[in-house]
Amino acid sequence: MGANSSDRAVLSDTIDPMHRDDEDPSVEIVAREDFSDLTFLLEFRHPMMAKAAKPGQFVIVIPLEHGERIPLTIADFDRDKGTITLVVQAVGKTTKEMQQTCRTGTTLFSVVGPMGEPSHIGDAGKVICVGGGLGAAPVFPQARAFKENGAYVIGVIGFRNKDLVFWEDKFRKYCDEFIICSDDGSVGIKGLVTDGIKAAMEKHDDIDEVIAIGPPIMMKACAETTRPNAIKTTVSLNPIMVDGTGMCGGCRVKVGERMQFACVDGPDFDGHQVDFDDLMSRLKRFSEEEKLATERWSEACRAGKVS
Ligand SMILES: Cc1cc2nc3c(=O)[nH]c(=O)nc-3n(C[C@H](O)[C@H](O)[C@H](O)COP(=O)(O)OP(=O)(O)OC[C@H]3O[C@@H](n4cnc5c(N)ncnc54)[C@H](O)[C@@H]3O)c2cc1C
Ligand code: FES
Repeated sequence: MGANSSDRAVLSDTIDPMHRDDEDPSVEIVAREDFSDLTFLLEFRHPMMAKAAKPGQFVIVIPLEHGERIPLTIADFDRDKGTITLVVQAVGKTTKEMQQTCRTGTTLFSVVGPMGEPSHIGDAGKVICVGGGLGAAPVFPQARAFKENGAYVIGVIGFRNKDLVFWEDKFRKYCDEFIICSDDGSVGIKGLVTDGIKAAMEKHDDIDEVIAIGPPIMMKACAETTRPNAIKTTVSLNPIMVDGTGMCGGCRVKVGERMQFACVDGPDFDGHQVDFDDLMSRLKRFSEEEKLATERWSEACRAGKVS
């Protein structure tokens, strides 16, 4: 565990020690797909990173020179093609800038990774993989890994409405059962992912593990749904990260009696032990600054100072 784990491959296109002068240091975006007004997929080429990536890990991206570093989960990797896939939601300055500038054929200034501890894909016989909204993307590689490990996989994916659904085909390929939930009932069952979990738990009394990824409030609700049955529940935490190497302390989270750094000890943790209220309050620490940054950027866009 920790930043010095010898088995963790941390590769960077800016500081990659294996980088050769004759190589182009930029990371080329080879595909982009827009899932909605807010959510888009980027696939970039990085054969070494694709070779090293494991489910549950993330990368730190600096999209443009002089830009901010932001953590994004590896939503998919293709070792044959040598590519990594990210799914991004445009929520603030940097992700909106990415939505505007990242196109097929353009480059990302810097990508570091894979980072974080890989998810533990144990020998569970039956698992529920839960993704809420954008969380569907990061839970996908785990669902696939469990299936490839021989588990019976139940996918539970929730969206606000049917227009926001993505990767249904990918999930169906690896899930023995697949439940879609929507807030408005426009697709699948009308309800939250916790309703999907309850439906799966009623049908199966032998669930070994639940993996839930999505907004903190959703992961908290999933953990409360499984707590009475004491079903192991793993969540992937998304605190504010700066360096991503365990040095700055920005990403500390309370898990049981222990203070953990999500970037090096996680991001996966025992959902029954996580202090979600502390996580949610820490996520709001910079909301004023974030609002200002987005406003300034939008203003610059309107004034034509940003292309
Ligand atoms: C391990 C991890 C994996 C993530 N994976 C994804 C992903 O696959 N797709 C995706 O769209 N988003 C992901 N996020 C969240 C993403 O990093 C933030 O949405 C992004 O940093 C927002 O930056 P912004 O400038 O666009 O928005 P801002 O306006 O700066 O922030 C919007 C909100 O994003 C969060 N945030 C801001 N800065 C950071 C930061 N440096 N680190 C973490 N959260 C931050 C805060 O909650 C903030 O309120 C992940 C976060 C973590 C920690
Ligand atoms: S981002 Fe985890 S310690 Fe700095």
